[in-house]
Amino acid sequence: MADTSFWHPFSDMAYVRRNELVLVRGEGMYLWDDAGNRYLDGSASLWYCNIGHGRTEMADAVAAQMRTLETWSTFGEVANKPALELAELLSAHAPMDRGKVFFTTGGGDAIDTAAKFARLYWQTIGQPERLHMIGRTNGYHGTMAFGTSIGGMEAVRTGWGPLVQGTSQVQHDSPQALRDEIERVGAERVAAFFCEPVMGAAGVYPPAPGYIEEIADICKETGVLLVIDAVIVGFGRIGGWFGCERFGIRPDMITFAKGVTSGYLPLGGVVMSDRIAEPFWSEPGRIMVRHGQTYAGHATVCTAALTNLAIIEREGLMSRGQELEGELQSALAPLADHPLVGDVRSGTGLMAGIELAADVLDADHDAALKLYRGVRSRGVLVRAHARGLAISPPLIVTTEQIREIADVVHAALEELAPVALRVR
Ligand SMILES: Cc1ncc(COP(=O)(O)O)c(C=O)c1O
Repeated sequence: MADTSFWHPFSDMAYVRRNELVLVRGEGMYLWDDAGNRYLDGSASLWYCNIGHGRTEMADAVAAQMRTLETWSTFGEVANKPALELAELLSAHAPMDRGKVFFTTGGGDAIDTAAKFARLYWQTIGQPERLHMIGRTNGYHGTMAFGTSIGGMEAVRTGWGPLVQGTSQVQHDSPQALRDEIERVGAERVAAFFCEPVMGAAGVYPPAPGYIEEIADICKETGVLLVIDAVIVGFGRIGGWFGCERFGIRPDMITFAKGVTSGYLPLGGVVMSDRIAEPFWSEPGRIMVRHGQTYAGHATVCTAALTNLAIIEREGLMSRGQELEGELQSALAPLADHPLVGDVRSGTGLMAGIELAADVLDADHDAALKLYRGVRSRGVLVRAHARGLAISPPLIVTTEQIREIADVVHAALEELAPVALRVR
């Protein structure tokens, strides 16, 4: 196969350079490559294509906005209608009082925005020593500087030299670990705690019952800002606009991206509560915030989000992830009995992780990749992670397609078994 000049993210280019899969078309739950092969989308691309592919309504809305006003910078006082409307809509649905929406271009810059604002907020209200930021083991918050430093996936953190000072991670499923860490650092020195309601990138870890509610209580008691990273879980993936509604909590900031446009155009952002916004929004001439990306509030991108969210609401997809979580769980549960499988994690939303057994992974570090390739060769695209697969289809998936994904993973495990079991 021909060589490429495209340096893929999260990739071993020495392998990828001659093994690219070139997709040329998408429609609904399906994608086609340049050789005409069809694939069922088992991962909503990278957890984002909630409405499915190839919607002409999206293309039409985006084209109409581009013909009217593609965009203009929103630095300073300039706004545009789609950005205003989208901010209003997100604010109205966020589980917080009169939230204000700061737009970014993706999830990683949303996280870095939240982290910088957490520090800036404390400095502005006279507690500049509140600098420390706490994340969780296995946490993933993107690959910008703060997100890399707050995240807890070791493989993502290493190789870059010293990370941002004043960050640490606590055991991901232990509220007591958070309490202990806040006590160790001193509550008066902790700015914020970052939490994915369901941890995605590390391999899908749903929260233990009561965990999210308890960490929210701890943050409230200690004054530490609670940043909910809803980049994956939002816009129907686990039910609701921001995914955290089902836990009845009220965060100080919510980061979002992915499903807000279903990936038709790149958009992210942070919804900040009234508490955070107040010092910045009350007295003209006092604070000039010098943070923001060129394309924040891009008119055409915001139009894509408005159209996508209208589709999600009209088609009842906002609750669909929660409605289908039981079906996904029961379709995948039998895989836990397969001799190559160590764990199957699911149950909160339309997302699941299949982890290979530890000794299989020890014997062959590429076992997860081989499993992914076996699934792909059977016409299903899923996400490979270091220890297995992640499944998170578009929210328009049918019960039959969920079963098909489970059957294909089973067949790929069977194919892998003779080799994997021999080296065991
Ligand atoms: C929970 C979470 N936060 C942040 C990010 C980073 O988003 P982006 O890749 O758009 O920078 C991701 C990406 O997968 C994510 O899963």
